[in-house]
Amino acid sequence: MIRVTVNGSSHALDVMDSTTLLDLLRDRLGLTGTKECCDLGECGACTILVEGRSVNSCLVLAAEANGQSITTIEGVASDGRLNRLQDAFLEKGAVQCGFCIPGQVMAAEYLLRQNPHPSAADVKEGLCGNLCRCGAYEQIIEAVLAANQTSRESLSPSGGGQGGGR
Ligand code: FES
Ligand code: FES
Repeated sequence: MIRVTVNGSSHALDVMDSTTLLDLLRDRLGLTGTKECCDLGECGACTILVEGRSVNSCLVLAAEANGQSITTIEGVASDGRLNRLQDAFLEKGAVQCGFCIPGQVMAAEYLLRQNPHPSAADVKEGLCGNLCRCGAYEQIIEAVLAANQTSRESLSPSGGGQGGGR
């Protein structure tokens, strides 16, 4: 049996040795926002945060996550409000089919936690492991840069923006 905390909720689960963290999230916990695509660590569709670090959940065994805290795309909004990145993706139209977007948002969340004020080059590098078959890269980069701007505004004395400071 393993114990994990997912988006703030504790779970005790029996898992097989071969169960991946991605399978655990999608098939056992019903958190299907994390997408399954290559299963090889090459596309980034399954990106989540484990103990605050960005990982491809298809490459991690569920047993390895025992005792750890996990954040998925379902856990980034709070009180029914999208976070600054989700707002920015919508505002910039950085969504076509949408399949890659949960992974893009999670990778961007990690990037902004590590580097709150990235350049466009930083964003490109930070998201280089997240593929978008629709080719929405330009809008995705714009969205991450816009979310960064929102964070700055929310930190300023006059700023009333939402979602900053995660
Ligand atoms: S499904 Fe995990 S990296 Fe592609
Ligand atoms: S929006 Fe379709 S794969 Fe990225």
